[in-house]
Amino acid sequence: MIKLHRLGRISFRSVRRTRGYVAERRHTSWLYISRLAATREYAALQRLYPAGVSVPKPIAQNRHAIVMSAIEGNLLSDCNFFSNPSRILNSVIENVKKAYTEAQMIHADLSEYNVLITPKLKILIIDWPQWISSNHPNWRLYLERDLKNILYFFERKFGIKEDLSRAVAKVIG
Ligand SMILES: Nc1ncnc2c1ncn2[C@@H]1O[C@H](COP(=O)(O)OP(=O)(O)O)[C@@H](O)[C@H]1O
Ligand SMILES: [Mg+2]
Repeated sequence: MIKLHRLGRISFRSVRRTRGYVAERRHTSWLYISRLAATREYAALQRLYPAGVSVPKPIAQNRHAIVMSAIEGNLLSDCNFFSNPSRILNSVIENVKKAYTEAQMIHADLSEYNVLITPKLKILIIDWPQWISSNHPNWRLYLERDLKNILYFFERKFGIKEDLSRAVAKVIG
């Protein structure tokens, strides 16, 4: 699976049409930012994968592209039924904990749109370019937001009520 980072490409196009000089600089900055995001995500996978966090296996990175193992599965957001949804929720929390404790990393954009589920119900957390260190001054805010998104999804779709403070305690405890 090849992921191409293309941040802000649309806005770059519209700027280019209307302004001449800025266009060149915008172009440079689009490539630069996209490359930065790709580098950052690749470095994240290289740290998470050996730490045992369930993420795609990093294979290569060049410019704004990263290559990782392709996962056969669905986005969590597309899943409407599990025979044991609590087990899936626990497995997501377990991996958030592993990232936090084994790799000192917080995803910072976690939601049902960045979790893949295989046909055998293994979960993988994807889309890491914006990760933050567990030493970040606002780490708790980001961790809570990540968990809140996931808990809200499981409550809304599967009626599972899990306390945010309990989930946070599971991760950092
Ligand atoms: N390793 C992978 N294997 C299979 N599909 C993937 C993989 N990584 C991402 N995808 C698919 O590509 C979509 C976008 O990837 P993601 O990393 O979330 O980027 P973004 O949300 O920034 O566009 C995901 O929702 C998922 O459907
Ligand atoms: Mg995503």
